[in-house]
Amino acid sequence: MRFLQILAGLAGLVSLANPIQASTIVDPKIAAKAAIDSMNNAFYNPSEGRWSPDIAWWISGTALQAVLDYMQMTGSLDYLDQARYIVDKQKAPLPGWPQGGGNFRADSTDDTAWWALAMLRMFDLTGDKQYLSIAMQDEQYIWNYWTDTECGGGIYVDIRAMTYKNAIANALYIKLAAGLHLRMGDSHYLARALKSHQWFEESGMINAEGLVNDGLTQDKTNGVCFNNEGPTWSYLQGALIGGLVELFRATHNETYIRSAVTLANAVIFSPQLTPSSTWVLTDYACERTAAGCNFDQQSFKGIFARNLGELDAQLVARPYRAYLEHNADLAYQKARNADDTYGTSWAGPYDGSSLAKQQSAASLWVALLQGQDTV
Ligand SMILES: *[C@@H]1O[C@H](CO)[C@@H](O)[C@H](O)[C@H]1NC(C)=O
Repeated sequence: MRFLQILAGLAGLVSLANPIQASTIVDPKIAAKAAIDSMNNAFYNPSEGRWSPDIAWWISGTALQAVLDYMQMTGSLDYLDQARYIVDKQKAPLPGWPQGGGNFRADSTDDTAWWALAMLRMFDLTGDKQYLSIAMQDEQYIWNYWTDTECGGGIYVDIRAMTYKNAIANALYIKLAAGLHLRMGDSHYLARALKSHQWFEESGMINAEGLVNDGLTQDKTNGVCFNNEGPTWSYLQGALIGGLVELFRATHNETYIRSAVTLANAVIFSPQLTPSSTWVLTDYACERTAAGCNFDQQSFKGIFARNLGELDAQLVARPYRAYLEHNADLAYQKARNADDTYGTSWAGPYDGSSLAKQQSAASLWVALLQGQDTV
């Protein structure tokens, strides 16, 4: 079992670098709560009903997911009133958006998908079907931007311009449609999830290293679409892993879990995404540049961690736990300030805080709680 040997080797390296295991130092439940409380203290704006209203809206959507997952995994209802309030505020129609907005119908399909995925978790936590209805409406809204013509399928990310079939919009869609099927048993969602997954696999967005690049470019002279070789951002890998896990849960077809494992291993053994100097997840395309990471990019790694945790929870041996613990341990020791805010790079040094960085670190801790659902 080469796969297990490789992971045993990684665990060996991790324990060499860290003679004391992370889990013996910090309880993930306590660290996750501290990260969420700090996110609320530093960035929550009650009158707007979101965190850091000055930065991109989708980041509050993924931050909400971290908070909801924390409650799902711990049985705590500490943030449920806040979550309901955020949803009520953010689902209101936004002036100037296509179709009047409302219920998270945004101007890019990925923005809608982040909030729709959070609505599935709101439904899990509350049993309230209004949240499921919103997710259904969002799925249909996103699906409206699928076309069979350009690139043989796929969803456009940019709704206003009807351009750019990219990895994030399509990977999130797979996770959303499969997630709806899991909660409703409705075969039409599963059929759409399978169709979009098959298109994704054949689209060329997965490169020779087994990593997902940013999206597709169409050659206007012959209509052929090809991998645009955009950065292999960590969240692209994470979103597809999450979609594959949901497809596996929906079908019990091992093909999907094998694809997810292959993708996760490609990230862990990528010298760029997991440099062997630290074995810590790194968005090299910004963290290793002079320009650094913008707010969107600061948000990415926690999304990978969340989805890796979801994969890990499906595997009896929990092969990714050591990797997640190592990342969390280093982030705690090297990238954290006294007020429990976290910086960009989990191997440190701490470089100041933002909502984007904070929801990313909170998501990392919550990933370590995956598989412990008490709700
Ligand atoms: C499992 O999924 C793969 C990929 O979609 C498919 O080719 C295969 O036929 C499926 N197997 C079963 C038993 O349905």
